[in-house]
Amino acid sequence: MKPDLRAKILGVELGNPTILASGIMGVSGAACCYAAKNGAGAVIPKSIGPKEREGHANPVLVEFDKGFLNAVGLPNSGVDNSLGEIEFAMKNSGVPVIPSLFGGTKEEFGMVAEKLDTLRPQLIEVNLSCPNTQDDFGLAFALSEKDAGEVIKLVKSKVRAKVIAKLAPNVPDIKTIARAVEKAGADAITAVNTMPGMAIDAKTGNPLLHNKQGGISGPALRPIAVNCIYEIYKAVNIPIIGAGGVTHGEDAAEMIMAGAAAVEIGTGIYYRGIDVFRKVSGELEQLMAENGYATIKEMTGVSHR
Ligand SMILES: Cc1cc2nc3c(=O)[nH]c(=O)nc-3n(C[C@H](O)[C@H](O)[C@H](O)COP(=O)(O)O)c2cc1C
Repeated sequence: MKPDLRAKILGVELGNPTILASGIMGVSGAACCYAAKNGAGAVIPKSIGPKEREGHANPVLVEFDKGFLNAVGLPNSGVDNSLGEIEFAMKNSGVPVIPSLFGGTKEEFGMVAEKLDTLRPQLIEVNLSCPNTQDDFGLAFALSEKDAGEVIKLVKSKVRAKVIAKLAPNVPDIKTIARAVEKAGADAITAVNTMPGMAIDAKTGNPLLHNKQGGISGPALRPIAVNCIYEIYKAVNIPIIGAGGVTHGEDAAEMIMAGAAAVEIGTGIYYRGIDVFRKVSGELEQLMAENGYATIKEMTGVSHR
């Protein structure tokens, strides 16, 4: 029998477990529809902040041998100007649309969440990997149990949507952050955002990114993400969405076996084209058939036995 590729996250049904990761196709509603048309089971537009932001100067994205480094600097047109694009995607993509948000302060997260919630999404993703502008060192919210928990608690108080906390991999013990956001009311966790990284031109000594430092995505991130998912699965009772280097069906299977209920794909688009979603689903289906898995649920967390 053909395996059942459907995935369920907090009661929301996806035709397959691949999700467009935030930031890769921008906020444009048409771009989200394009990913859905090419097989994405759900889509996440670029993270929306409180106001318009330019982002960093070019180059913002460079390739290295095992992935990409990016420092785009969260460019976006602000929540008020982005609602129309997200609404367009919700009406026309035919798949669940999961708005993503960020802020520089807890209050900004709360404000943006409240506005996004007026669109009545079923799920929203909270990007905690942005600097806390009230912290002396500008530490990202995702790096502190206290900050991450407080943001999630505030967002939860402002929305009817279920809240997914997106965590960062560069923490000493991701279980403690996962437990903190679960305790604060997060309904699910996405693991993970990019890992800090840097590349330097060996001839000139100049950093390749204009921002000098950035975030690693793609294949180099995958074992780190799988490890984070594995750890989080042991620590909490809420669903996990995997992200980081999913390029082939086998990569998706690996994350699901570590404990993910679904997987996001971002950088995979650069390697395999926009129909990476359909390709990964097809490969995953074949792998499931060959190894006797009837459903995604049956496969989730099998590596913990
Ligand atoms: C160019 C670029 C922009 C990104 N922008 C965002 C963003 O706005 N919000 C967010 O939560 N993650 C953002 N990410 C992180 C991705 O959503 C994802 O977590 C990460 O890239 C790992 O998955 P991947 O290896 O499949 O790309 C961005 C990644 C890239 C490469």
